[in-house]
Amino acid sequence: MMDMDIDFVRAQFPVLSDPSMAGKAFFENAGGSFACRQVIDRLTRFYRERKVQPYWDFEPSRTGGEEMDESRTRLSVLLGVAEDELHFGPSTTQNVYVLAQAFREWLQRGDAIVVTDQDHEANSGAWRGLADHGIEVREWRLDPDTGHLDHAKLVDLLDERVRLVAFPHCSNVIGEINDVAAISRMAHAAGAVVCVDGVSYAPHGLPDIGQLGADIYLFSAYNIWPTSGDHDDPP
Ligand SMILES: Cc1ncc(COP(=O)(O)O)c(C=O)c1O
Repeated sequence: MMDMDIDFVRAQFPVLSDPSMAGKAFFENAGGSFACRQVIDRLTRFYRERKVQPYWDFEPSRTGGEEMDESRTRLSVLLGVAEDELHFGPSTTQNVYVLAQAFREWLQRGDAIVVTDQDHEANSGAWRGLADHGIEVREWRLDPDTGHLDHAKLVDLLDERVRLVAFPHCSNVIGEINDVAAISRMAHAAGAVVCVDGVSYAPHGLPDIGQLGADIYLFSAYNIWPTSGDHDDPP
């Protein structure tokens, strides 16, 4: 395994050379994160030179639009999804809320969904609210002794009425990493759509969503220590 050059990594984050951070380590997970200098440089340039309506025929508008397109292209490659499968929204909580409203229109009375008690409120509350609209909400409960979501229990909850299974990639409650690919296969075999909360997982390694097989995978960009992929100043 290659050794990580920790001095190089730390040097990318201006905040770490600030006297206020001297002698401190930063272990925030699924919370606000400091950005590296490449991201700060790009944001600064965008705000100073390009923050106008994009795609018009003058320099700031053209370059601003190109940079937005570039972020879509690069992120979709990193995540293993097609560009038109990627959506930028305000926050995971709000995105799930909007999704739940869309599902409310699509689902019929008597349909069922599965939620867990290992989730953050973001991937739970809005789905549970569908009970007020005639949708049966089934709870996949964790084992109180181990904290695990037992796959055998999911089998008992799945049948042809289940349209959605919502669960976390990594639980922010107990830190367990769930086998998204296996759970997605089980849900798909029952004809259900899979919605995964990746907020706790993404800071530790951007997932290859194409490989995982989830239909919907959410994470919050402001929670991860982003790198632009450039090690030099932006072009
Ligand atoms: C596991 C998990 N999911 C979802 C969220 C909510 O994300 P957002 O603040 O983008 O709505 C959080 C926030 O802490 C979280 O820890």
